[in-house]
Amino acid sequence: MKNNQKWALITGASSGIGLEFARIFAKNQVNLILVARNINALNSLSKELIKLYKIKVIIHPLDLSEVSNAEILVGKLSKQKINPTYLINNAGFGDYGTFTQTSWEKELKMINLNITTLTYLTKMYANKMLGGEPAYIVNVASGAAFQPGPLMAVYFATKAYVLHLSEAVSEELSGTNVSLTTLCPGPTQSNFWSVAGKEKTCGILGKMPTSRQVAEYGYHAMMNSKRVAVYGWVNRLGTLLVRFLPRSWVTKAILYAQST
Ligand SMILES: NC(=O)c1ccc[n+]([C@@H]2O[C@H](COP(=O)([O-])OP(=O)(O)OC[C@H]3O[C@@H](n4cnc5c(N)ncnc54)[C@H](OP(=O)(O)O)[C@@H]3O)[C@@H](O)[C@H]2O)c1
Repeated sequence: MKNNQKWALITGASSGIGLEFARIFAKNQVNLILVARNINALNSLSKELIKLYKIKVIIHPLDLSEVSNAEILVGKLSKQKINPTYLINNAGFGDYGTFTQTSWEKELKMINLNITTLTYLTKMYANKMLGGEPAYIVNVASGAAFQPGPLMAVYFATKAYVLHLSEAVSEELSGTNVSLTTLCPGPTQSNFWSVAGKEKTCGILGKMPTSRQVAEYGYHAMMNSKRVAVYGWVNRLGTLLVRFLPRSWVTKAILYAQST
C-alpha cells in the first residue's frame, strides 16, 4: 500500500509531541485522524497539513478520558472503513502535588486517559491490524515509567502500567506484522508541565528537548520496530541506574528531583 493510502490515528494531536508526530506523518504523505479536545487547535493543524502536503485529515474533537468516546471513535472509523496502519497512543497528562492533596477527579480522568483508553485502543487496533500489511503502534509512556514518582505518584504509576502492558503485548506480537513501540520521553518542552501544575521542571536534568525532537526520535524508533525507546542518553542512563540502586534511594532521589 502506498503511503498516501495509509492512515495514522494520533491521540493528543492538538499540541506537543502528538502535534509533531502529525507533522512528521504528513510530511511522509500519510493521511491523518487527529484526536484531542481542542477543536480550534485540531482545525488549524488540519488546515496547515492539508495545504502543505495535500493529504487527507479527519479531526475528532473528543475527551478520551471518557472511554465511551474512544469506543465511539473506533465505531465511526470502522463505519468509514478506515483501518489505521499507525496508531500513536500519545494523549496523556500528569498532576503535580502530594498524593493526599491532589484532586481525585483529575486523577480518575488521568487513569482513564493514560491507562484505560490507551489499553482499549491498543487492543482494538492490534486486533484489526493483525494478518495484514506491516502496521505500527506507539504507546507513549515516559522516563517516569521506570520508578515510583513522589509528588506525581499517580502519573508515574500510570506510565509504569503503559510500559509493562506495552512490553508484554509487544512480546506477544513478535513475529507478526504488527510492532509495538513504547516511547519513553524524559522532560520535554510542551504544555505538559503547565497542565500538570508544575512551574519549574526538574532543573537537574538540564535543557529539555523540543517536542519535535522527541517525535522524530519516536517515529524512527517505530519504523525500526524498536520495543522500548527512551529519548536521550541521560534518561537512558537513569533507567539503567534504577535497576541497580535500592528502591528506597531511587524514590528519595526522585522526590528530590521533583522538588527542584
Ligand atoms: N512533556 C514531557 O515532559 C513528557 C515527558 C514524558 C512523557 N510525556 C507524555 O507525552 C505525551 C504527550 O504529552 P506532551 O508533552 O505533548 O503534552 P501536551 O502538549 O500537554 O499534549 C498532551 C496532548 O494530550 C491531549 N489530551 C489531554 N487530555 C485529553 C483528553 N481528556 N482527551 C483527549 N486528549 C487529551 C491534549 O489535547 P487537548 O488538551 O486538546 O485535549 C494534547 O494534545 C503524554 O502522554 C505525556 O504523558 C511527556
